Amino acid sequence: MSNIILTGDRPTGRLHIGHYVGSLRRRVELQNSGEYDKIYIMIADAQALTDNMDNPEKVRQNIIEVALDYVSAGLDPAKSTLFIQSQISELTELTFYYMNLVTVSRLQRNPTVKSEIQLRNFEASIPVGFFTYPISQAADITFCKANVVPVGEDQLPMIEQTKEIVHKFNAIYAPDTPVLVEPKALIPEAEACKRLPGTDGKAKMSKSLGNCIYLADSADEVRTKIMSMYTDPLHLQVSDPGHLEGNTVFTYLDAFARDEHFERYCPDYANLDEMKAHYTKGGLGDVKVKKFLNNVIQEELEPIRVRRAAYEKDIPEIYNILKRGSDAAREVAAQTLSEVKQAMKIDYFEDMELIREQSARYKGL
Ligand code: TRP
Repeated sequence: MSNIILTGDRPTGRLHIGHYVGSLRRRVELQNSGEYDKIYIMIADAQALTDNMDNPEKVRQNIIEVALDYVSAGLDPAKSTLFIQSQISELTELTFYYMNLVTVSRLQRNPTVKSEIQLRNFEASIPVGFFTYPISQAADITFCKANVVPVGEDQLPMIEQTKEIVHKFNAIYAPDTPVLVEPKALIPEAEACKRLPGTDGKAKMSKSLGNCIYLADSADEVRTKIMSMYTDPLHLQVSDPGHLEGNTVFTYLDAFARDEHFERYCPDYANLDEMKAHYTKGGLGDVKVKKFLNNVIQEELEPIRVRRAAYEKDIPEIYNILKRGSDAAREVAAQTLSEVKQAMKIDYFEDMELIREQSARYKGL
């Protein structure tokens, strides 16, 4: 069986370091591992419109932002197919057929959709398109027969839903030779990477809360944000014992710091455990920890920033990359759709047997 990756993001804003440690960094590693036959990275604009129906301009503007973040972070168009969801009309067709395999009550149980409904005040009146986006996400994942989907933890319910659809589709329409492939989610191992908090210590990094560090931020912006980060409110003096629980600076270090960073930027400690021990004992000030974190994050973001500056000089080429990727994705989607329609017995004009069969029936043979 082939090893195929599909994943993507809604283009509703620039990508931040939460996206980076949650999924983007992993995608680049997987891309460069050479273990995958195909890698599809999708800008989910149609999905973004399910909760931004009144703001198409926002979605349109952020296509290029997300694409720039992708290539700057190291996704290489020569190795990965970068494409735009809405340009693959086959996805909508697949979605329509998959809808038959999902119940309303099943959709209502999706915990991610539930919390999004609350967040967006959709309780009184949920747009149908938004409510059914997990089904369209199953189309995204299955059109290329992806078996691996690297995502953040909040996407697990979508992968679960996709598995159920695949299972049901194959059982009903293709019991002998399965047409669709059941995907597996790949989520970060480290707790800190699963859900990176905002710089203010709030549970989620989010544009509307203004607590993000963006991949596209300048070195100065990053430094300012880090130096004013939330730490331990009880750690008033350097000599006070500090707490690690809920201490955002240490959560970021969990997500970013490696032993070699200590050699380079803070040789007083061999590793993060030693630094944490000193902090909890007392005698290690927040400023020193923040300066170290700044060095670590700057080292990670600098190459991304340099690549971004280069790519920003040739914006038409970015659109070309997306166009080529969308053309390639469409070809694969058309093939899968034709297999799906055949399995569902709606391939009337491709099935030579059908006409012969019906003629014979009417001749009373
Ligand atoms: N739901 C994802 C997000 O909110 C975006 C997305 C759409 C996606 N289709 C996908 C992710 C398929 C993985 C696989 O960012």
